[in-house]
Amino acid sequence: MAAFSSCENRSYSVRLLSQESFDTTLNGKKVGLYTLKNANGLVVQVTNYGARVVSLWVPCKGDSLVDVVWGYPSIKSYLAATDCYSGPIVGRFGNRIGKGCFAINGKGYKLSLNDHGNHLHGGSNGFWSRVWDVESDSSSSVNPSITLSYLSPDGEEGYPGDLKITVKYILTETNRLKVEYAATTSKPTVVNPTSHIYFNLHGNTARSICSHVLQIRASSFTPTDSLLIPTGEIASAIGTPLDFNQPTPIGKRIGEPYQPLIYGKGYDHNWVLAKPLGKVDVVAAVFEPSTGVEMLVATDQPGLQFYSGNFMNGKDVGKYGQKHLYRSGIALETQNFPDAPNHPNFPSAFLEPGQVYKQSTYYEFRLRK
Ligand code: GAL
Repeated sequence: MAAFSSCENRSYSVRLLSQESFDTTLNGKKVGLYTLKNANGLVVQVTNYGARVVSLWVPCKGDSLVDVVWGYPSIKSYLAATDCYSGPIVGRFGNRIGKGCFAINGKGYKLSLNDHGNHLHGGSNGFWSRVWDVESDSSSSVNPSITLSYLSPDGEEGYPGDLKITVKYILTETNRLKVEYAATTSKPTVVNPTSHIYFNLHGNTARSICSHVLQIRASSFTPTDSLLIPTGEIASAIGTPLDFNQPTPIGKRIGEPYQPLIYGKGYDHNWVLAKPLGKVDVVAAVFEPSTGVEMLVATDQPGLQFYSGNFMNGKDVGKYGQKHLYRSGIALETQNFPDAPNHPNFPSAFLEPGQVYKQSTYYEFRLRK
């Protein structure tokens, strides 16, 4: 346990993961653990293995803090994990590309296939599995931050062009975890990175996220086939179990016999966000009544994939010895639409040399009493 003083001079206890349990060398590169804390006592811990958020302590009822990030206690357990997408940046293209195929200027590309004949989250050795370089670590400043970068070589997982990506995590004094992305390429390519943190606002992965109350500002979504590849259609969500315009408990309609829910085995869909493209705006809010923790999600991206942990198998054990239950984590992935390179009616995911890909997203934490 470590104690931190907040700006009001209150003392909060958090169970920090230890540096030693993340110190290692993978493929010749050093892996470490970095801790940022703000003046209100919030703490985020990040490892450069996959540019991954491994813990995030936020205010909850009872005048204390709770860790809302689903994950494991050490690098060893991340390497052995049944769910490799817990907390990292996924890419080069987060989400799915049908059959792993796309074309640029008439030339076809074939990506590695790691999901029932499709390409998911950048492939079997996507960004989530790479050791990122630590560009700067301003953990002791106001609005502490860490900047990580990764150079993805031409041809990696089948993608064209050397892609240099940087991700900056900033913990603001306004209780936001900001994630700022930038990427450039040496050849025309596709790019769609996203943060794949699983949140559990109970602070306990032995409790289901079905009690979380969710709101998403979106009237439509991108329907898929049974393997979750978009058909290219943009369909109305209004009046369906995918309509979260009014705050609704996740578990309320998750079992309804609605075809997209059957294909997703629960929620696993991309919502078309109702906001101007490129403007950072709040697009979703999640609230857990028992802890009072509320999280707002804001982004400049056109889409939000909400995944309700339907593939979590309840078998493995989390950071504090608790079970990782079925549906014990929620991912809210701010992104371009899945399979965008294959649908001219979706926002473009192509990046040319000389252009800079940028994304700005934040998660803001509030306590509702
Ligand atoms: C989500 C995806 C799910 C599943 C999960 C990882 O982003 O939408 O279908 O693949 O990642 O288990």
